[in-house]
Amino acid sequence: MALLEVEDLDVRFYTEGGVVHAVDGLSYTLDRGERLGVVGESGAGKTVAALAILDLLDDPGRIEGGSIRVDGEEVLGADPERLRRLRGGEVGMVFQDPETALDPVYTVGEQVAEAVRVHTDLDGAAADDRAVSLLDRVGIPDPATRATQYPHEFSGGMAQRAVVAIALAGDPDLLIADEPTTALDVTIQAQLLDLLDELAADDLAVQLISHDLGVVAEFCDRALVMYAGQAVESASVDDLFYRPQHPYTAGLLSAVPRIGDDRDRLRTIPGSTPDLAAPPPGCRFHPRCPYAEDACTKRDPPLVAVDGDDHRAACLAHVDDADFDGDLDFYVEVDGEADP
Ligand SMILES: Nc1ncnc2c1ncn2[C@@H]1O[C@H](COP(=O)(O)OP(=O)(O)OP(=O)(O)O)[C@@H](O)[C@H]1O
Ligand SMILES: [Mg+2]
Repeated sequence: MALLEVEDLDVRFYTEGGVVHAVDGLSYTLDRGERLGVVGESGAGKTVAALAILDLLDDPGRIEGGSIRVDGEEVLGADPERLRRLRGGEVGMVFQDPETALDPVYTVGEQVAEAVRVHTDLDGAAADDRAVSLLDRVGIPDPATRATQYPHEFSGGMAQRAVVAIALAGDPDLLIADEPTTALDVTIQAQLLDLLDELAADDLAVQLISHDLGVVAEFCDRALVMYAGQAVESASVDDLFYRPQHPYTAGLLSAVPRIGDDRDRLRTIPGSTPDLAAPPPGCRFHPRCPYAEDACTKRDPPLVAVDGDDHRAACLAHVDDADFDGDLDFYVEVDGEADP
């Protein structure tokens, strides 16, 4: 049984401008110890889907349907005590907004110790000791002294390590890290990924949400590509990067800047993410898709197996009974090696 099973998840925001269908029929699983990358442009629903797992969506957001099972147990609609165990206890989260992650008025040690008290039976000095050992575990030098300092005394990289320590306080099985490296410079980013790598080697499953396909390629086993609230492709990282099966994924890959790329070879996907209060009919990607045919304007493609069971894509080109005549002829170049 997978550690996390998300099935047909539906999240909407009831705003004055209309109902924003932020996550629409999202299904995926994550195994124990697995590293899953979630990628997609801004507004794809990556953060909203992650917050839904911990029931942390604020008004006007509502989970309208689906199922979220952790270790086989349904957590949607769970009581407050169950949710308390879930948050931090089973699933630790590193939130996207680094500014709000640490409170400037408490020492870092106090904040980690507080998370320890909430998620374990430890109290008092035992919680403080555990906080110091967590700071040590995430690679903060001289952790006992560092614990007495305030967040402003930490560099960006050290502060992000402290945030990871807080997420680990309850010894979770799954860490969801939402753009954990985006605010960091490249060297510090690499060090933080090394830390996540060590943690994952200790059998912690990681859901890494990132704009950066390079980071996902390097760190993850599997990747899920989201577009406009839906999963459009999921596969092992190798399959996804070398043999993408959805035009959106292929577009994302060709939009990745590489060292040595000259300007006019830097392509981006034309157009922008649709308004999720009024998404286009049929496939949500069709207005931007160079392969779109008439049928794509009418039918929302299901996520189907392509190229082996573990590789799935939601494109009519892969749906047997679809009225789609064309061929997807991606030409993907990865690290200078072409793979037609
Ligand atoms: N509080 C809110 N009210 C209304 N709509 C919201 C709210 N929060 C999120 N949304 C909408 O939900 C959609 C998904 O947002 P989400 O933050 O999950 O995107 P994301 O993939 O994490 O993007 P990014 O890469 O920028 O972090 C967006 O269209 C966004 O406008
Ligand atoms: Mg986000």
